[in-house]
Amino acid sequence: MKRPYVLINMAMTLDGKTSTVERRPTDWTSPTDKRRMIELRATADAVMVGARTAETDRTSLSIPDAALQRRRARRGLPPHPLRIIVSGNCSFRDTIRVFERPVSPILIFTSRRAPQAKLDRLARRPDTHIYVAGGRDVDVPAMLDILAREWKVKRLLAEGGAALNWALFAAGAVDEVNVTLCPRVFGGATAPTLVDGAGFLRDRILDAKLLRCDRIGQELFLRYRRLPLSSG
Ligand SMILES: NC(=O)c1ccc[n+]([C@@H]2O[C@H](COP(=O)([O-])OP(=O)(O)OC[C@H]3O[C@@H](n4cnc5c(N)ncnc54)[C@H](OP(=O)(O)O)[C@@H]3O)[C@@H](O)[C@H]2O)c1
Repeated sequence: MKRPYVLINMAMTLDGKTSTVERRPTDWTSPTDKRRMIELRATADAVMVGARTAETDRTSLSIPDAALQRRRARRGLPPHPLRIIVSGNCSFRDTIRVFERPVSPILIFTSRRAPQAKLDRLARRPDTHIYVAGGRDVDVPAMLDILAREWKVKRLLAEGGAALNWALFAAGAVDEVNVTLCPRVFGGATAPTLVDGAGFLRDRILDAKLLRCDRIGQELFLRYRRLPLSSG
């Protein structure tokens, strides 16, 4: 099976949270963080989010900056990356922001749990492509294979949240993690972190290597490469 190079980008508090317990929109980082996120997005062939992030964060997954769009054009890329939503049951609202701007194809990866009527409705939207890729959950390797082969995606940016990140890590499909460490504390046992899900047992934990650390203002911008499975 083929797959693209997969990067994760998220902002995190000192206590490892990516949102408060209310799971409201994540507008709590600096303008520098937001700018860097868009710049990273502009390097990707495709951007992916989990269904809850697509709903709560009101993200368009597009490139709002004309200069960055021109830079993409010089590299032979379309102005905006492909936009991907992962949802097992497609219960997200039809009013999510991704649908508001028809700037690039929208790919929805779902499972056989999704009601056919909802899939039919989504498929009628302009430039929206539905893939049923799994029984209960979306089969991550199958999804990445479709992205690499059918859509020629070489570089995929995953912008959260924790459940999607877990699915990617559990499939061994994450190559790079970009984290903005923000000097804030949210607390809350149920507040989301960078990676959620069942978690790895001790003999399966993943290691990473720090490639870069930039300090800008009060934030640290960290870039890690995932290392092969630890021997325990
Ligand atoms: N700080 C940051 O940088 C940042 C970035 C992004 C998000 N966030 C925060 O993170 C929170 C959202 O994270 P989250 O963990 O709750 O949700 P999430 O990962 O955004 O979305 C979870 C949903 O994605 C779908 N999904 C993920 N993996 C799947 C798989 N393998 N198969 C089928 N469906 C799959 C499921 O959708 P269905 O339920 O529809 O089946 C699941 O409920 C929000 O509070 C948001 O603000 C923070």
